Amino acid sequence: SVLLLLNGPNLGILGDREPEIYGTQTLADIEKAVAEEVHPAGLELLSVQHDGEGELIGAVHRHRHDTVGAIVNPGALMIAGWGLRDALAGYPRPWIEVHLSNVWAREQFRHESVLAPLASGVVVGLGAYGYVLAARALLHLRAGDA
Ligand code: DQA
Repeated sequence: SVLLLLNGPNLGILGDREPEIYGTQTLADIEKAVAEEVHPAGLELLSVQHDGEGELIGAVHRHRHDTVGAIVNPGALMIAGWGLRDALAGYPRPWIEVHLSNVWAREQFRHESVLAPLASGVVVGLGAYGYVLAARALLHLRAGDA
């Protein structure tokens, strides 16, 4: 089984990008930590990062039926990513939204996510560790399914 890790715009340069806000861990570091978290449960990680909304939508469509859940950091698409929102509305598995930073402690325009109402849960402000927590939560939800 495969878990989808989806990262949106500007998250490919994590570690180098505003490290005082987003931390020093790279996307590769995060992928490794999440993969290690889910491997013991028999899950492989499929990590996809795009800066463009269209590519992210395509990835959601492509992996609708071959993944068991998803961790999604939409980046700034949280604000007005209506197309990504609709793609995720049609994603048949549980998914969790993650933000590295505490978006509520930041500018007003980051205080509301158009995706969040569709997520099983949201992890905010805990840095790279938030992705690991989201992975654990998905394993937990999955165990409840069985
Ligand atoms: C972010 C928060 C967003 O508001 C911002 O646009 C990002 C990163 C985060 O992980 O904290 O690109 O999603």
